[in-house]
Amino acid sequence: MKVNGVDYRTIWPDSADPRVIRIIDQRRLPHRLVEVELRTVADFARAIGEMYVRGAGLIGATAAFGIYSATLAAPASDPWPFIRQAAATLIATRPTASNLAWAVGRQLKALEGHATVHSLRQASFSLACTIADEDAEFCRRIGEHGLELLREISRRKGGAPVNILTHCNAGWLAFVDYGSATAPIYAAHRAGVPVHVWVDETRPWLQGARLTAWELAGEGVPHTLISDNSGGHLMQQGAVDLVLVGTDRTTRCGDVANKIGTYLKALAAHDNNVPFYVALPSSTFDWQICDGLRQIPIEERSGDELRYVHGLTDGGQEDRVLICPANTPTLNHGFDVTPARLITGLISDRGIMRAEEADILRLYPEHKPR
Ligand code: MRU
Repeated sequence: MKVNGVDYRTIWPDSADPRVIRIIDQRRLPHRLVEVELRTVADFARAIGEMYVRGAGLIGATAAFGIYSATLAAPASDPWPFIRQAAATLIATRPTASNLAWAVGRQLKALEGHATVHSLRQASFSLACTIADEDAEFCRRIGEHGLELLREISRRKGGAPVNILTHCNAGWLAFVDYGSATAPIYAAHRAGVPVHVWVDETRPWLQGARLTAWELAGEGVPHTLISDNSGGHLMQQGAVDLVLVGTDRTTRCGDVANKIGTYLKALAAHDNNVPFYVALPSSTFDWQICDGLRQIPIEERSGDELRYVHGLTDGGQEDRVLICPANTPTLNHGFDVTPARLITGLISDRGIMRAEEADILRLYPEHKPR
């Protein structure tokens, strides 16, 4: 997507030295656009764990390049112990998004059987680029499928703007490009289908306020920032035509883990007959599990994310302020699980399906149990 007229992805190899991988430091947005260089496995692990990069798709692509960096640093005589250790380090950074283990696993499988470290490095770089390109292409296709849904709602409203509520950031910043939940929104906006987005601020990290609002403004998409507690009220007022969110892990039976607070939006949508859609690339399905509540690991993050708010002072300095008594006990779960029964549909790169095993497998027959 474009930033100030310049085409950006969220991760890319440095043009002068492809051993260096560049990212946008999302902790600094929307106030500063800062690029960071990643060179070592520790750099990649820090970037994922400390949320320089975040969002399921981008975490996966970053981990794929992290394995490439491991092949560069691994001793030529016996590279595998180093690469396996790097894989374990990367996988441990964030537990919920399935794309992370998926991308690392895909790298390890593809690298088996390479006889020389030189060929390992070439294969790993090429696969990391493929994973990044595929991620962008998956999202582009999600946009095509979701566009038809938004067009139909707009048609039913006589051409009035479609009001979409979204939570967290499932935009291009959460992937390599386009985004999942935002891809249909961008596609509709470009196709002349009028849309307006209610942007949940998304406490505590404020992905909505900091990232989604910035992205939508950059593309000229009409939007309004709302507090996390406003969605139910807006739905009762008839001001939301659909909820459209992303997901970090989706089970083969259609349960969805996404940013904490998503479940409450799904409950409110259910109570108000508002359609609740989840957009995801194929790489976010976890085919091994069915029961999301019992089987999806939920990340717990530092209580400082709750205690402090980070932002820009009136003087233009980035700073953080304490918003509660200094030693207040906290509990900071990063994600929650929305059961399939509350989900109207899943929009993937393969099309739109109901959030139930049989319909998911209709579009993914290769995952049918043999
Ligand atoms: O903690 P984050 O910012 O990585 O969480 C991101 C989300 O919850 C997104 O909604 C999710 O990754 C789906 S879009 C990739």
